[in-house]
Amino acid sequence: MQHSNILKINRDFTDSSLPSDSSSLEIRLEKGDLIYPSWSLDSIFNSDELKVLCSHKPKGLWHQTISFHPKNGRLAGSNSKEIETLLGRVSKVLMDKIQVLLPKYEGAIRLDRVVLNNVEAATSGGTNIAKDDVLHLDTLKGGLPGETRVVKLSCNINLTNTRVWEKGPSLASLLVDSRARAELILRGKSGFYHDHSGNNIAAMLEKIGVTLRQSEVIQKKIPRKVVVFPAQSFWLAMTDVCLHSTLRGSNVLELMFFVQDQALCSGDLSAPCLLQSFFSSAIKQAAA
Ligand SMILES: [Fe+2]
Repeated sequence: MQHSNILKINRDFTDSSLPSDSSSLEIRLEKGDLIYPSWSLDSIFNSDELKVLCSHKPKGLWHQTISFHPKNGRLAGSNSKEIETLLGRVSKVLMDKIQVLLPKYEGAIRLDRVVLNNVEAATSGGTNIAKDDVLHLDTLKGGLPGETRVVKLSCNINLTNTRVWEKGPSLASLLVDSRARAELILRGKSGFYHDHSGNNIAAMLEKIGVTLRQSEVIQKKIPRKVVVFPAQSFWLAMTDVCLHSTLRGSNVLELMFFVQDQALCSGDLSAPCLLQSFFSSAIKQAAA
């Protein structure tokens, strides 16, 4: 009865290229779906703690966010011991919940960091390469060998306001979309993909990620839908295979997990297989 604690609040895209069997949450994540755990924020934080989290500003001009690193138990972007303790506690509580929710990733999912972001998404800065309000994939650095997939658990910690995303297609759908494929292959003709090293999935995703952000065709023509996340709700996505952009929202807690390739459940349709197949064909076409 794994799905009993899942609240579906918005229908996702139907990926016609993928099997319709969605009995496993892990497979749905790997397909690029959003998952909505119906966990209660009240059971994790009291209202004073939430107010502290939502009002805390990062130190200095260089940090837009505050992050907690479970590996060393330390914060980056703030010296607050109160925030360090709070994020340390929440990282343990939510890691336990994720392990129960995603049993097929047992022993193969690792919490890398917890990010507290109190910047209004609609006004956040950054260049086109870094901005989150364009359709993009998350390509994170810091994975250990064999860890190439990124799962992001988000929580809208704002007490009253919604957070708004646009959700685009999954990587699998993108790679079979004729307009997107033409754009991605066009980049290959300039030799853009040639220096990817063998089986380096992260490098391949990075290349695709740069093209996605820079392509006007992809930014303007690829279908997407608006998804509204209620105040104090949780959602989960494999954000390196689920195109997304953040349009609005001012307080979010994001837990970034790495998942090992060997634990993936979707076989030939997993991101490593899709990427290897796309890159070998794009490089052949570029050479033709
Ligand atoms: Fe993102």
